[in-house]
This record gives sequence, structure tokens and C-alpha cells, in this order.
Amino acid sequence: MSDIVNQRAKQCNNIFLNSKNKMRALLLLSACLSLSLAQLRIDYNTTKQQCPSIQCVLYDAYMEPNNLCVYHEKLGGTDASIKLRSCQDNPNQVCNLYSPFAWTQLSYVNQASITNYQQSPLVGRKTQVECRDRNDLMETDLNNGRRCLENYQCRSRMCEWDTGVCRGRQNQSSCANHRDCDHGLYCATNSAYPFESVCQPQLGENVTCNEDAECGNSMGCTLIYKQTEKKCVKYYSLNTTEIFAWETTTQHGSLMNHVNMTKDAVLYHGRFCQSGLASKFSQTTAMCVAVNRTSLSNDAGKTKYTESPLTCQTNTDKIVLCEYYDDQFTYARFSLPCDCGYDSQIQGYCPLPGQDFLQTHGQLIFNALNQSQACHTLDRFDLKAHRDCGVPASNPDDLVRFYQALDSQFQLDYWAFAQSKDAYECLHGVFPFSSLQIMAQSVRLIVSAVIGALVIFSIIL
Ligand SMILES: *[C@@H]1O[C@H](CO)[C@@H](O)[C@H](O)[C@H]1NC(C)=O
Ligand SMILES: *[C@@H]1O[C@H](CO)[C@@H](O)[C@H](O)[C@H]1NC(C)=O
Ligand SMILES: *[C@@H]1O[C@H](CO)[C@@H](O)[C@H](O)[C@H]1NC(C)=O
Ligand SMILES: *[C@@H]1O[C@H](CO)[C@@H](O)[C@H](O)[C@H]1NC(C)=O
Ligand SMILES: *[C@@H]1O[C@H](CO)[C@@H](O)[C@H](O)[C@H]1NC(C)=O
Ligand SMILES: *[C@@H]1O[C@H](CO)[C@@H](O)[C@H](O)[C@H]1NC(C)=O
Ligand SMILES: *[C@@H]1O[C@H](CO)[C@@H](O)[C@H](O)[C@H]1NC(C)=O
Repeated sequence: MSDIVNQRAKQCNNIFLNSKNKMRALLLLSACLSLSLAQLRIDYNTTKQQCPSIQCVLYDAYMEPNNLCVYHEKLGGTDASIKLRSCQDNPNQVCNLYSPFAWTQLSYVNQASITNYQQSPLVGRKTQVECRDRNDLMETDLNNGRRCLENYQCRSRMCEWDTGVCRGRQNQSSCANHRDCDHGLYCATNSAYPFESVCQPQLGENVTCNEDAECGNSMGCTLIYKQTEKKCVKYYSLNTTEIFAWETTTQHGSLMNHVNMTKDAVLYHGRFCQSGLASKFSQTTAMCVAVNRTSLSNDAGKTKYTESPLTCQTNTDKIVLCEYYDDQFTYARFSLPCDCGYDSQIQGYCPLPGQDFLQTHGQLIFNALNQSQACHTLDRFDLKAHRDCGVPASNPDDLVRFYQALDSQFQLDYWAFAQSKDAYECLHGVFPFSSLQIMAQSVRLIVSAVIGALVIFSIIL
């Protein structure tokens, strides 16, 4: 598991160097965004929060000639502003957000206390992003199982001409790493001398493992409380109050207490829980929690709200924390800072949706992962990749569910923006990892199946 995270971190760095690579997933991207956030020291007691004003524009005198879709017109301070513009004037263009870009993270930074440039969330991120032709973003570096036209697109350098799919080494062939093996396989080290590495089928439920990549795509590798070995555990399967390992070797290891938690950490561990959320239970353990009441740190009365979405105040002298409670415990399970919204610099949203949304989300994502046997183990969280290796294009019900999974992930990642129809539509038009844009790149026949789902989501909004 730590390998996957390290690899993610590497990919986050590589994306910048490798902007031709268009296969970056929405999960990968959100992981990159939150990686940088996790590295920031946030002093909730003294940091003033300053959200940028965000505006979707049809025309802008600077963006138009420069063909920009994201433009931080003013960086930091009380008048920070971000402008967004759709690339869809030209149907073949897409906003090139596949490398790290600056978003609203700057609002969390105690500007007075930053002396080292590396602590700034703007370092190594684009503040101006351009529209690019889809064909210029030709996919390369594809894992086995992905659709291809040319050998050089595949990591294995082997595009099988009759199926048009990247092919890797088969069962029992020697390998150096997971990437070498075909989809459905991982690179295993034999347990006896001379310990050679060979491709072998991914493991089934409850089989002993070392890392997620070894398990079938709908399972992760974790140590359940009181068991002696890590095992493949189905995602979104554990009941509330079940205890399992907190990943101390990842960037989440430094999150010492429930107050300086991150959205990424509770969702990352929560991928094992039916509730979709886990809190830190001890130094080394996580616990599945179902939080359905939230209070705000600036509310002296400590009202426990059950509604979702819950608004909170931004641009305050001290960051407002959303404190999440369950039914079991009188103290908050964890707290997360109020997220900047789109509509106003004053009003934001608590960053997590309600428990109903999260439970449905878990089922949708589990379903997508469970259908992705034709995707490589390293592509499991790359929903964008699933569009050409996972979804059986022949079944409209599966397509609708896949669309719902994409949309659910997008709403979860950008919860504070999914709350207003304008912001949601604006972001959908600009962000290439939105359901709309991912599906737009997919085969035509999907369109009719998706209309049903569109109707469902416009009712929600
Ligand atoms: C979280 O808080 C602990 C102790 O309060 C601190 O040692 C740790 O560095 C903090 N982590 C982050 C990522 O801010
Ligand atoms: C922040 O303030 C709270 C209460 O106001 C206090 O309990 C806590 O120790 C403070 N944290 C830090 C890091 O100063
Ligand atoms: C892989 O090879 C092993 C050993 O020959 C065999 O037992 C297993 O059935 C094979 N699995 C698949 C999926 O081909
Ligand atoms: C795996 O273990 C869980 C919990 O002990 C059990 O509910 C489940 O049936 C097991 N699955 C298989 C396939 O053995
Ligand atoms: C979760 O709880 C249900 C009902 O309480 C039980 O049937 C099921 O076995 C539990 N699942 C696990 C994985 O413990
Ligand atoms: C919170 O969720 C639990 C489990 O889903 C449920 O039993 C409980 O009634 C909910 N409480 C509130 C206040 O909604
Ligand atoms: C997961 O996929 C397998 C194989 O396609 C199927 O038999 C199983 O019912 C699916 N599980 C769930 C929970 O949908």
C-alpha cells in the first residue's frame, strides 16, 4: 500500500514533467492536491482564512488571446481571484489540468508564518492553465489492459494489434514489477529459494497480502484488529466501529490527532468502511465511523446540525472547523476546516457530504472497481482509465452506474463547489476529470445511456 502512495507521490512530481500524459485520473489528481495540503502546517488557532473569489467567464481580455481555462488573476491576499473559462468553444479542446495546478489551498496558509517557499501551495503548480487539443495529449505510458494504437503508448511497448489493447507478461512469466504483468496479474516474489519474481493472478478475499496491488481490484490490503496478518479486504465492506491499520508510512502518518485531520486521510482509510469514513483511533489504528452530526467551532452553543450540505463561514480571523460526531461518542471523531465555496468569499461549506451520500458513493465506487477486472491493478483508482478497460460498453445499466460513480467522485472531491448549480456546471465544463468530460471522450453510444443519469443529477442539484 505504501508503494502505491509513494508511487502516487512520484507521479504527482512526474505529471509536471510529463504534461503530454493525459491518463491522470480524478483520484490521482485529488490525491496530488491533498498531498500538498497535507504537507502544510496549518495552525488553526491563528491562521486567518482568505478564500479567493472564483468566477466563470465567457470572455476575458487576457484569457481569450492566451487560450487559458484557469487563471489566477490575483494570487493571495484579500483580493485573490481565480477565473475559469470553458475550452468547449472548440469541441476538440480540453483544459490541460493534468499537471498540478493551484486551487483554493492558499486560503489555509498562515501567510505571516511562511518563510520557506516550499511551504507555499503555489510552488510547482500552474496558476495559468491553457486549453489544448485532445490529439496533442496523446496517451502514452498506458498500463496493460488500456486501449492503444501504437506500441509506444504502452508501458510494456506491446500494443496487441488485433485487440488494440496493451499487453503484458502472462501468468508465471518472470517480472521486475507489477507494470510488467498483464491485467489481472501482479508481480509476486516466490516464497522459497531462489525467490524469483513471477506474474500471478491477483489474490482473492481474505488471502494474506502485503499491498493493495496484490489484491483483486475491488479489495485493499489491510490488517484488521486482532488478526496477525494483512489480508485482502473488500473496499467499503467494514461495519462501523471496526478497527484496522492506520497507514503510518504514508503522508497520513504525521496526522497526530483528530483536530489536524485531512479530508484525504479520512476518505483514504474510509475506503474500507461501509460508511466511507474512518477516524484515527490510536497511533496505529483507524476505526470506521458513521458521522451524521456536525458542529462548527465558531458556534458557542455547539449546535449539532444534521443537514448536508452544511454552510460555514470563511474569510474569518481564525479558520472555522467543522467538527464531525457519530452516535457512539460524545466528542468529535475528527475536525476539518471549512472549505472555500464558489458563490461568495464569506460563505463556504463543510467539506464532507452526509452519510447517505457517502454510503451510496461507496457502493458506486465498489461496483466500478468490481467491474474493472480488465483493468490493470495499478489502474484500479483511475476511473478515467476504466472508461476504456473497465466498463462493458454493451450494457446501458452498467454505463449509467459508471457515470454515477464518476459524478459521485467529482462531487465528493469538489463538494464545496457542487452545491450551486452555476459552480457545478462551470467546473464540469472546465475540469477534464468531470463525468461529463470523461464520457465525452468515450464512445458515442454511451450518450443515450447517460441522459437518464443526467436527469437524476439535475434533480439533485
Ligand atoms: C498534527 O498535530 C501534531 C501535534 O499536535 C503535530 O505534531 C503534527 O505535525 C501535525 N501534523 C500536521 C500535518 O500538521
Ligand atoms: C487551540 O485552541 C484550543 C482552544 O481554544 C486549545 O485547546 C488548543 O490547545 C490550541 N492549540 C494550539 C496548537 O495552540
Ligand atoms: C496461473 O498459473 C498457475 C500455475 O501454473 C495455475 O495454477 C493457475 O490456474 C493459473 N491461473 C490463471 C488465471 O491462468
Ligand atoms: C472473509 O472474511 C469475512 C470476515 O471474517 C467473512 O465475512 C467473509 O465471508 C470471508 N470471505 C471469504 C470469501 O472467505
Ligand atoms: C456487519 O454487521 C452485520 C450485521 O450487524 C453482520 O451480519 C456482518 O457480518 C458484519 N460484517 C462484518 C464484515 O463484520
Ligand atoms: C446516524 O447514523 C446511524 C447509523 O447509520 C443511525 O443509526 C442514526 O440514527 C443516525 N443518527 C442521526 C441523528 O441521524
Ligand atoms: C463483483 O463481481 C463479480 C464477478 O463479476 C460478481 O460475481 C459479484 O456479484 C460482484 N459483487 C458485487 C457485490 O457486486
